[in-house]
Amino acid sequence: PRVAVVFGGRSSEHAVSCATAAGVLRAIDRDAYDVVPVGITREGAWVLASDDPEALALTPGHTPEVTDTGAAVILPTRVGDSTLTVHRTGQALEALGEVDVVFPLLHGPYGEDGTLQGMLELADIRYVGSGVLASAAGMDKHYMKVVFAGAGLPVGPYTVITDAQWRRDKAAAMDAVNALTFPVFVKPCRAGSSMGVSKVDRPEGLEAAIEAAREHDLKVIVESGIVGREIECAVLQGRGLDAPRTSLPGEIVVEAGHGHDFYDFEAKYLDEASVVLSCPADLPAGAADEVRRLAASAFESLACEGLARVDCFVTEGGEVVINEINTMPGFTPHSMYPRMWDASGVAYPQLVDELIQLALE
Ligand code: DAL
Ligand code: MG
Repeated sequence: PRVAVVFGGRSSEHAVSCATAAGVLRAIDRDAYDVVPVGITREGAWVLASDDPEALALTPGHTPEVTDTGAAVILPTRVGDSTLTVHRTGQALEALGEVDVVFPLLHGPYGEDGTLQGMLELADIRYVGSGVLASAAGMDKHYMKVVFAGAGLPVGPYTVITDAQWRRDKAAAMDAVNALTFPVFVKPCRAGSSMGVSKVDRPEGLEAAIEAAREHDLKVIVESGIVGREIECAVLQGRGLDAPRTSLPGEIVVEAGHGHDFYDFEAKYLDEASVVLSCPADLPAGAADEVRRLAASAFESLACEGLARVDCFVTEGGEVVINEINTMPGFTPHSMYPRMWDASGVAYPQLVDELIQLALE
């Protein structure tokens, strides 16, 4: 099959998406799949991109970026036609051929949030991962919690500040936040990779943190810090009518002394020494099973498809709280999703193959 691997994009996670693509492009079985690498520039231009994993890697000295090569890619808009065509500016349309499936390796708005998924639905093109609603709700740290709570799943205390609320009455918005237990985490509702996230220990730090989050999204969520271990679980849709499959849970420990107060962007992607990622997490059997059960329920509550990573806290008492879901989790060398599957017996190339097969099913 022919696979269009789409990466980059307009969100602040552009570089992370490139690194994710590097991981997948390295792992994909080239004998089984014909890969068409499609990059989206930060401005939103779709171009035929390089599929050199080295150039797409994210390292302390290199921030990868899709550049506009002038080879624009046009997706079809006719239902029932899955022809992807490419043309170079000033030249006649040059057909790139049929594409069987799109693998949208995009993180953040305009990619992981249902917008791209809606476009692919309109064009009648198959794609890896969740559909419009699950992608949109899974991108929004507020609505995902509304859905989880509605499904009876455990979520922590939080409050949301919309743009209108903030501009109408900052003091009232901050009063609502002050009712939470500090420290709190202030986050843009629709962003990822800890972009715009601050940990705030005292009310005095709130306003600046909210303004920082608003640089990424005018809708902000403030969550009570939960004292517990950071445990993640990878979910893969079942084949046919099978229930979702869950990986062994993994744990993230941010080491003291590296200047990271929490699992922030630097700790995630640039400062390898500052975090220990372990899988399987050393949890009591009951807690591990509960994490897996809740991860599968979270996946089903949003009607996710393909894949998702569910991030939880496990408290001292063994209580599990769901923090969030990511419908297109990172696939970088630092990312937990492929690691957790590897530790659970699904190697990286097999995982990529499984995801594409699920989309083609
Ligand atoms: N948003 C990043 C890519 C993740 O969840 O892994
Ligand atoms: Mg996220």
